[in-house]
Amino acid sequence: MSSSEKNANGRSVTLHVVSSLDGFIAKKDNSVSWMDSPGKIYEAGVSISEKEIAAFLKSIDCYVLGSRTYEHALELGWPYGDTPVVVVTNIKWPSASARKSIEFYSGDLKTLIDGKLAPRYRNIWLVGGAMLCQRFLELGLVDEIKLTIAPVLLGEGLRLFGDSAQEKRWSLKNVAAYKNGFVELSYSAATA
Ligand SMILES: NC(=O)c1ccc[n+]([C@@H]2O[C@H](COP(=O)([O-])OP(=O)(O)OC[C@H]3O[C@@H](n4cnc5c(N)ncnc54)[C@H](OP(=O)(O)O)[C@@H]3O)[C@@H](O)[C@H]2O)c1
Repeated sequence: MSSSEKNANGRSVTLHVVSSLDGFIAKKDNSVSWMDSPGKIYEAGVSISEKEIAAFLKSIDCYVLGSRTYEHALELGWPYGDTPVVVVTNIKWPSASARKSIEFYSGDLKTLIDGKLAPRYRNIWLVGGAMLCQRFLELGLVDEIKLTIAPVLLGEGLRLFGDSAQEKRWSLKNVAAYKNGFVELSYSAATA
């Protein structure tokens, strides 16, 4: 989302996750090989260079994630570099072993976004997992959804969207189909 598309509170929170075709963001055993690119190339798709990816990632000011996603990210190899990360948790984690860029937060999520992060960061990315994304959606704290669909059916796993979200319209802003068969759908929260 560009800064001109910030919401009325001046914040820009983008929910970004990768989903299977059947709406799962994780397998029961937590394995992630389903996110690997298939060998088959979608010729009409676009490809992005390492340089473009790096520039794009640089535009993200802060990541927010749930504690289970945090644990999984630590296991897989930290993907967020030195960009500030807020881990939402009710547990006291041993901060001594954490990176300097990581902050743990427990409390009201609206206060986290509007009181703590929005004054400091322009481009805030909520990157999972399902539980935290669902809470953010229920509270109306998401301004943009970026859903990357992987070309795979998983059959079972962790659903991105639960039953608790209310009906709400979103405006399609962009569709990008990549050479690896992944499709990225971008939506912004519809006003009125
Ligand atoms: N496909 C993708 O793009 C993608 C992206 C992200 C994650 N994932 C996968 O999703 C799985 C994790 O998702 P998940 O839904 O199980 O867990 P999650 O949302 O990552 O984390 C849930 C935990 O966050 C904390 N939390 C959530 N809401 C809170 C609130 N309002 N206040 C305080 N703490 C709160 C609680 O931690 P405490 O118990 O510490 O209090 C809760 O147990 C992993 O397998 C991960 O790899 C996939």
